[in-house]
Amino acid sequence: MINLGIIGCGSVMQGPYMELVNKFIFKKLVNLKSVSDTNLDLQPILKKKIFFENFFTDYNQILNDKKIDVVLILTSMKEHAKIAKQALLEDKHVLVEKPMATNMKELDGLFKIAKSSNKFLIPAPFVTLSPTYQAINLELKNKTIGNVSLARARYGWAGPDWGEWYYKTGGGPLFDLGVYNITTLTGLLGPVKNLVAKSSLSSPYRTINEKKFKARTNDNFQIMLEFKNGCIGVVTTGFTMQQYKSPAVELYGSSGTIQMLGDDWEPKGFEIWRNSRSSWELYNTPYANWPWASGFNHLIECILKKKRPSIKLDHAYHVNEIMIKINESSKKNKEVSIGSSFKPLKFTKKVKIKKGHLDHDRDHDGI
Ligand SMILES: NC(=O)c1ccc[n+]([C@@H]2O[C@H](COP(=O)([O-])OP(=O)(O)OC[C@H]3O[C@@H](n4cnc5c(N)ncnc54)[C@H](O)[C@@H]3O)[C@@H](O)[C@H]2O)c1
Repeated sequence: MINLGIIGCGSVMQGPYMELVNKFIFKKLVNLKSVSDTNLDLQPILKKKIFFENFFTDYNQILNDKKIDVVLILTSMKEHAKIAKQALLEDKHVLVEKPMATNMKELDGLFKIAKSSNKFLIPAPFVTLSPTYQAINLELKNKTIGNVSLARARYGWAGPDWGEWYYKTGGGPLFDLGVYNITTLTGLLGPVKNLVAKSSLSSPYRTINEKKFKARTNDNFQIMLEFKNGCIGVVTTGFTMQQYKSPAVELYGSSGTIQMLGDDWEPKGFEIWRNSRSSWELYNTPYANWPWASGFNHLIECILKKKRPSIKLDHAYHVNEIMIKINESSKKNKEVSIGSSFKPLKFTKKVKIKKGHLDHDRDHDGI
């Protein structure tokens, strides 16, 4: 039985993670030994929802417990790097929500410790585990649309109405939302060499729990990424997007186009245009309920089966560096280079995605 500790018991813990953890508790594979949150008021709320042995306001009591094997870090963002570093040093496997770190110093410190540890560090997001992502990845590898030269990705919404920290320094939509798109695009297209970005503060005041306060971090981003393979990509993200119906990801190749439908953290399938067939082909996903928190399942599976995670640390570091440099580019109004790189991601399981239907009528002029 794997003993688990959870640090940070807010929205994401009480929603998607609790659902997955409960399934493993039911199967008797995981024991939720301790949970920690600085907000003591959460203890009775959690008690009604999930079984655990201890509640601590000081997370060190979880890290100092030798019986705990795995720690989930689900706190606000600025705490992630420090807690993750400490947890690895205490010999725990770690899942950390995004971002791993909000500045280069903390990112480098955590990375160094993770690289020399024999425990797993699994940083969110887990979009590369989604079967739809993996199916698109395979199509690119097979050159179904030729060489990709342009890419677009977007993820945004109006912004959280909980957690003031989302609007403070070290929060914001880039670390919270743009991170999914950057993970997806780099996963599919490889490393980025340069970037240039603009960001702005569109809503200087936000209201949470009927309290109006001044936002301290930009909520609106347009980002241009130049990939090492020559492709140019654009990411649009913000707590400034009320709704959309556009594809999550668009990939423009020399002989066709691929569009991921829905959001990359919750894909609805994808469409391929091939010049050779002169039609759109819709691939429905049989995995519509793929849970975006499934990095947790992956971590438990890797521990039980003693196999290395498919979430690669070098890739996560690269994505985190890109985000930190996006803020730098936007602040200094200049192009910035990226120092890190990573090897192409490999997936062992072959995904099966059914072709939905051909749509000959939906051409560019008809939309
Ligand atoms: N909410 C979502 O839909 C969502 C989705 C995906 C990922 N995430 C990520 O999950 C993380 C948490 O987001 P959230 O929306 O649940 O935030 P939240 O504010 O609802 O919860 C964070 C919790 O962490 C606690 N906390 C802060 N510092 C702590 C510390 N030192 N020790 C113990 N507890 C501490 C807070 O009291 C709070 O209860 C963030 O990294 C976010 O980007 C959130």
